Amino acid sequence: MIILIYLLLILIIIFLPFYFLFLVNTVLMGGHDLATSKKAIKKIIKIIAEKKPGKNNFYDLGSGRGNVVIAVKKKFPQLLVVGIEKRAFQLFFAKLKTFFLKSKIVFQKEDLFKADLRDADIVYAYLWSDIMPSLEEKLQRELKERTLVITNTSYFPNWEPTETYVVWPKKPDFEKLFLYIKKSF
Ligand SMILES: C[S@@+](CC[C@H](N)C(=O)[O-])C[C@H]1O[C@@H](n2cnc3c(N)ncnc32)[C@H](O)[C@@H]1O
Repeated sequence: MIILIYLLLILIIIFLPFYFLFLVNTVLMGGHDLATSKKAIKKIIKIIAEKKPGKNNFYDLGSGRGNVVIAVKKKFPQLLVVGIEKRAFQLFFAKLKTFFLKSKIVFQKEDLFKADLRDADIVYAYLWSDIMPSLEEKLQRELKERTLVITNTSYFPNWEPTETYVVWPKKPDFEKLFLYIKKSF
């Protein structure tokens, strides 16, 4: 019992500074860092399973701590799964998780607005709503026809979603998913 308590204390002492730095990083870099819930991830996986024929890769724009990329790679091991994240700590935790899970995910530490998305087949974004207009412009310029784009909660000002999915019926706007299929205007 005493050994267990010591082990617990050692773990807390090791992880507490990381957690503190993680919080500081989140506050300094601005923006929210909510992770997509398990329930929403299930829906995303269902959407990919239904729509994916001919799709080879999946991009999470702002992959955070890696919850979505890890779940998608687990379900679709044949997909090339890419997480783009600008914050070092989120990326560190995501890479740590994938190391222990032996999951082969490509992480790119960069601003998503600088990422090359011309080859993307499926794109996922759970981001602040104020960046959605510029993201829409970038995706309109860059994506191939018929690329699937799934957004969580925030949506594009001009693109019309082909479908929307309510994840939490009691709070329909929370984690509502928007499915878009890229087309040229
Ligand atoms: C709400 S979290 C979502 C994390 C993950 N996609 C998920 O759903 O669990 C948004 C993430 O996007 C990242 N992010 C915001 N703006 C970004 C940008 N311009 N370039 C790269 N990452 C960005 C944030 O650092 C944060 O980790």
